[in-house]
Amino acid sequence: MKETAWKSPSNIALIKYWGKYDVQIPANPSLSFTLSSAATTTRLKYAQGKGVIKVLLNGQETPTFIPKIQLFLERTRALFPFTNQMDFEIHTSNSFPHSSGIASSASGMSALALCMMNIKKELGLDIEDFFREASIAARLGSGSGSRSVYGPLAAWGKHSEIEGSHDDFAVPFTDVSDVFKTFQDTILIIDKGEKTVSSSLGHSLMKNHPYASKRFAQAHENQSRLLTAMLDTDLKVFGEIVESEALTLHAMMMTSKPYFILMKPNTLEVINRIWSFREATNHPIYFTLDAGANVHILYPESHKELIMRFIDSELRTFCKDSSYLCDQVGLGPTPL
Ligand code: PMV
Repeated sequence: MKETAWKSPSNIALIKYWGKYDVQIPANPSLSFTLSSAATTTRLKYAQGKGVIKVLLNGQETPTFIPKIQLFLERTRALFPFTNQMDFEIHTSNSFPHSSGIASSASGMSALALCMMNIKKELGLDIEDFFREASIAARLGSGSGSRSVYGPLAAWGKHSEIEGSHDDFAVPFTDVSDVFKTFQDTILIIDKGEKTVSSSLGHSLMKNHPYASKRFAQAHENQSRLLTAMLDTDLKVFGEIVESEALTLHAMMMTSKPYFILMKPNTLEVINRIWSFREATNHPIYFTLDAGANVHILYPESHKELIMRFIDSELRTFCKDSSYLCDQVGLGPTPL
């Protein structure tokens, strides 16, 4: 078998994608920090064959992943027409623990999409823009995965103020002041369990959601305001928008039919302590949440020592097994 490999990072959305149309078209634009340490490494072995798929997670055969991969291959057939005449062995591993509550779909699907692009290149098929096609393919596997293809930030979904932005793929975004290119993200692991409601179900509940149209319009406005704040190094406005986006995401969950809550008591405990600490010290420390209970703490690199001290002394106790992951904004995937 031949082999190709990529390491692709996870990302954390500042403006949240929540709600989609077929196939994987976002209901609103989103913007994310590409992460650095949280990543998936995928070695894709391939040979002429009949579409037989084997998936190994950390060296262990994991057949439960196969249906997701098959769906990815079906959806990306136009981009990768060769996949049904090949057999694949997918060796994948995540830099973060499997049950840490951190979704591996964005990093995993983008790593796989990039490996497929390598095969496409190797076969001499037409490629107009390598990373753009990788982003389209990653999107078809996991919406937010479209953004993992680029760093330090990526924008996905048509937005009037981001040139070239598109619903089909993400574009790299660099129009921010330098402080944001080295921003830190300390991920507090509040809960390690499987999510009670998957993000695909959550997205689908936006279809008949009473606040959907207002929320989608708000995401456009928030993105506009965030772009200005990030260009002007306005950390206060940055934090205000990012925290509001996180709480709005969870508010949508709480007002869906059926409603659900993914935050845990310690999520709220941590948020309140971040607010008190910020109020008392004026340090630029902000939080965001993804579709789960974990809290992402965002702050400039220049405040790392001080904020890590606060996290260790006041917040760590609210983490499952006292665990957190230290990450920061990164530059995107690397070929191996
Ligand atoms: O890519 P999905 O389908 O797992 O959805 C991701 C949704 C959020 O993480 C909540 C927001 C986002 O934009 O990443």
